[in-house]
Amino acid sequence: MIGIARGEDRVALVTGGGSGLGAHIVRALHADGYRVLIGDVAMDGAKALARDLDAGGERVRAVPLDVRDKRAFVAVVEAAADWGGIDVLVNNAAITPTTPVMLIEPDEFDAVMAVNLRGPFFGCQVVGEHLRGRRAGRIINIASQAGQMGGTVTGAHYAAAKAALMLLTKFFAREFGGTGITVNAVSPGALDLPAVRAALPAERLQAIAAAMPSGRLGHPEEVAAAVCLLASSSMGYVTGATWDINGGTFMR
Ligand SMILES: NC(=O)c1ccc[n+]([C@@H]2O[C@H](COP(=O)([O-])OP(=O)(O)OC[C@H]3O[C@@H](n4cnc5c(N)ncnc54)[C@H](O)[C@@H]3O)[C@@H](O)[C@H]2O)c1
Repeated sequence: MIGIARGEDRVALVTGGGSGLGAHIVRALHADGYRVLIGDVAMDGAKALARDLDAGGERVRAVPLDVRDKRAFVAVVEAAADWGGIDVLVNNAAITPTTPVMLIEPDEFDAVMAVNLRGPFFGCQVVGEHLRGRRAGRIINIASQAGQMGGTVTGAHYAAAKAALMLLTKFFAREFGGTGITVNAVSPGALDLPAVRAALPAERLQAIAAAMPSGRLGHPEEVAAAVCLLASSSMGYVTGATWDINGGTFMR
């Protein structure tokens, strides 16, 4: 039997980890034995989750992080020094506007690129350089099926940023080749999350789910499980990959 190494007390940073899918990833990594830094701009949710998982702050910490700011990543890397540094970066933070393509104004376009593309780019640069010094590590970018097919609900700017993120994943995988660092992406389809249910009428969601080969939306725990697998030190031969987690909606 082949064993998959679990957290082994390694340290993971999850951007946008205070809510939604990111919070599920934080919970799964914590359950797997990682110490987890929850980096978010919305500190209330991040702090509440950290308290819920670990009131003492010894294994889960909320840290302020605006991914639009490269220096903020540097500050988080420095703040992790007393935990021995970061081993795993999950670039999860994103914003998800649904503005129709012809109505997207320059400010909104730039705002989406700043969070959804610049953010993970600088995360890969800054945390990647830190990992290079350690000659080990994992970077996992949260992309989206919208970046492969074009979103039917999410905006064109969101989809374009996610497509570019899958490309950047390959660039950074090559950059860190031979250093013990892998860089991969996961590409989820529609997930059963409160924000998704709030954004769409129930009949529309049912129709979307019925049209999927899976016949249902994805559970965020299913994406979190894939992130844990890619984060494992057993997974050193997977790099530059995008794992589709979409109920069969997009098949290559
Ligand atoms: N929900 C889905 O069905 C779905 C499907 C495919 C991909 N995704 C991807 O999963 C990830 C999480 O999506 P979600 O639905 O949980 O979103 P969400 O809006 O519920 O959560 C996003 C988190 O990112 C944080 N954030 C926003 N801007 C930030 C910034 N500048 N710096 C740091 N943190 C910031 C928010 O505070 C929030 O905690 C995103 O990358 C999204 O594109 C989601």
